[in-house]
Amino acid sequence: NSPETWSQRFESALHPAIARFNASIGFDIQLIEYDLTGSQAHAKMLAHTGIIPADEGEQLVAGLEQIRQEYRAGHFTPGIEAEDVHFAVERRLTELVGDVGKKLHTARSRNDQVGTDTRLYLRSQIQTIRQRLREFQTVLLTLAEQNVETLIPGYTHLQRAQPLSLAHHLLAYFEMAERDWQRLGEIYQRVNVSPLGSGALAGTTFPIDRHYTAELLNFGGVYANSLDGVSDRDFAIEFLCASSLIMVHLSRLSEEVILWASEEFRFITLKDSCSTGSSIMPQKKNPDVPELVRGKTGRVFGHLQGLLVLMKGLPLAYNKDLQEDKEALFDAVLTVQSCLEAMTILLREGMEFRRDRLLEAVSEDFSNATDVADYLATKGVPFREAYNLVGKVVKTSLAQDKLLKDLTLEEWQTLHPKFEADIYDAIAPRQVVAARNSYGGTGFDQVRQALKSAQHRILNG
Ligand code: ARG
Repeated sequence: NSPETWSQRFESALHPAIARFNASIGFDIQLIEYDLTGSQAHAKMLAHTGIIPADEGEQLVAGLEQIRQEYRAGHFTPGIEAEDVHFAVERRLTELVGDVGKKLHTARSRNDQVGTDTRLYLRSQIQTIRQRLREFQTVLLTLAEQNVETLIPGYTHLQRAQPLSLAHHLLAYFEMAERDWQRLGEIYQRVNVSPLGSGALAGTTFPIDRHYTAELLNFGGVYANSLDGVSDRDFAIEFLCASSLIMVHLSRLSEEVILWASEEFRFITLKDSCSTGSSIMPQKKNPDVPELVRGKTGRVFGHLQGLLVLMKGLPLAYNKDLQEDKEALFDAVLTVQSCLEAMTILLREGMEFRRDRLLEAVSEDFSNATDVADYLATKGVPFREAYNLVGKVVKTSLAQDKLLKDLTLEEWQTLHPKFEADIYDAIAPRQVVAARNSYGGTGFDQVRQALKSAQHRILNG
């Protein structure tokens, strides 16, 4: 190949199928607002540093603004021929402002450009998700406030364990969401770093001012190393990690809601606004919302795994593989936001706790057995001895189809002389819950404290 051939090697067009294969415009058009904002900052910097004349800088900024208006009005719809959003914008800009448009890409590469766009996009999405988390927490808090003294069976191994305040159960999810909210806040710090000015990989020969563009774009800092700047996707992986944890939490709650709605539990009723029927079984009312949330969780995990695998073998710096990060991010963002919204609506108005059933449930099991052992231990009987004795009582009661509350005082006293008439109070479900007053426990006093702390956190951040 002669030098002429090399210099003209892109004379012929791409194979149409390869053009489609290569193009990202179909999805990265979602970045357009961020691309325009990033390009405006870059144009201002070019003028600010004297790399281009001030009036040209102004023309570029105005042209980019015009594209924004066109896009918002639905008049800017670039196709495959544009390859990606960055080329699409640059071409349109040149149509609008003439040859000056061709100066926009001075001292810049699509590599630092796409990195900037992605961070600007993610920054904004993280703020939305944190807001959605707060709404989700608020509805949990409201439900908890209404249900401090509503009792619900607590489980370990999905076997009845000890009864709980329903508020305590709901506040457990509040705390998970609180960590999710914090985690996203921490990740935000690392998303909020500017790679702009890294160039293709090595920096640039022009006297650019990276701190100036970073400031214009409200970034907290700039990448210290240009190679790292264009090839780092840690921030996206961290985001997918945090998103996966949000989904884990939503999925666990979903699983509980699905169980609670079943005939076997009957702890909640689903309202028509959030459930669906069956095309054949007329009696059915299905918990589609939590099922979909549980199902969509897998997608987000998949995107996390996908991005980890995408990155693990990539040599520095930019590789086209990196174009694959976008659909993963976009889909994860959309999935997390829609799941948070759906669960918030479900909790707020799509289901109702059946207090009658919950009370019935906690009154008719052996989940007060620990309290009998604790009762004896408080009166000086070594706990393990008390525990063994109560085990025996449970066994004989089961055989006689009785509950602990059905034993007569005589029967109690035959079992152990330390039992007195106050045993009945000690094993009543309400007292069983109230008595667990250790810090962070389900006792009503603790739950009221926890509610206060939760309210405080919602109001102050
Ligand atoms: N569409 C590309 C992406 O999303 C933009 C960057 C292209 N850079 C390049 N050197 N081909 O990654």
